[in-house]
Amino acid sequence: VPHPLGKDSLGRGEFSHYMLKEMYEQPDIVLKEGTQTLDIPKELSKALHITLIGCGSAFYAAWGGKYYLEQLANRIVTLELASEFHYRNPVVQDGVTIAVSQSGETADTLKAIQYMEQHGQYTVGMVNVPHSSISRQVHYEILTKAGPEIGVASTKAFTAQLLCLLKISMNLMQDSVRKQKILKGLKQLPLDMQKIFFKVSQLQDIAQHLVHSKGIIFLGRGMSYPVALEGALKMSELSYIPGQGFAAGELKHGPLALVDACTPVVVLAPMDQFFEKTVSNIYEVCAREGKVFVITDNAGAEQLAGVPVQDIFVYPSPTTWELHPFLSVLTLQLIAYYTALHKGCSIDQPRNLAKAVTVE
Ligand code: G6P
Repeated sequence: VPHPLGKDSLGRGEFSHYMLKEMYEQPDIVLKEGTQTLDIPKELSKALHITLIGCGSAFYAAWGGKYYLEQLANRIVTLELASEFHYRNPVVQDGVTIAVSQSGETADTLKAIQYMEQHGQYTVGMVNVPHSSISRQVHYEILTKAGPEIGVASTKAFTAQLLCLLKISMNLMQDSVRKQKILKGLKQLPLDMQKIFFKVSQLQDIAQHLVHSKGIIFLGRGMSYPVALEGALKMSELSYIPGQGFAAGELKHGPLALVDACTPVVVLAPMDQFFEKTVSNIYEVCAREGKVFVITDNAGAEQLAGVPVQDIFVYPSPTTWELHPFLSVLTLQLIAYYTALHKGCSIDQPRNLAKAVTVE
């Protein structure tokens, strides 16, 4: 596995794109930050109601954070898309808002936290760029410590955001046995992420299959749902092939009409509490001649033997469900990257997009 040259440097070293370098840096981020304690303010420790807010990939990371905070920390969590939020003049109660933003400069996210502060909320900024506008606005700053992200499409920042949100949830959770289990899993995770890079040729083959599609559907349930949405976003912004992410349980409520032999379906089917249900979705797609590409772990793959899918990409089974997104999102990032590469797209600077959106 090629290793990033000069981890903190802005150069892309031996990598052909910043995005590739940044994807390869992800195991290191988990290695360095995964088991480090994260300080959180007492206002957040005490808060029963937490609002998570962001745009783009940061919003999808926040969505994963909602699932962590609800299931591990028993908090009431509201998820808000910053670009919609303050225009509605929503009613705001006591609580804490966490704004998730790589750049710390996204205008809508900044507006949203200003609104929350005006309505008496305590605000936390989870940013990757210190001293940013959001850092200066909020009451408390949490740095995601992913290092500079140059590629317009967010990769390592997304992973670092998800990791911070998991760590906040672990700070707040009561069940110490479960916490230990996650910690143990976080120690193993960097190695498991590395193993994905050893199988990159399979992802290149999958990308080759996807490259001529008119559209690609991404399905996931539970924690895999926001990851599917992030995968769809990565595919759209990098390859310009419309990626549409859906909750797998919504398949029958519309998306199934899109399925035909020319519209591949990428299904996240990790071995978690939703596995059986997701497998039934796979059968529904196969029955409509849809080409299914499954992303799962070892345990899931064992159960999928004989299911008539196009291909199955298998990553190592993590010790606990909370860690699947780190492995599945990396897989989806790489698939989007190679699809865009096959098409000859401008990977680090996709057309019409900017790294930080500083206008509303
Ligand atoms: C832009 C970037 C995305 C990013 C989004 C939110 O659209 O291209 O990669 O997810 O803004 O940016 P932020 O800096 O707030 O995370």
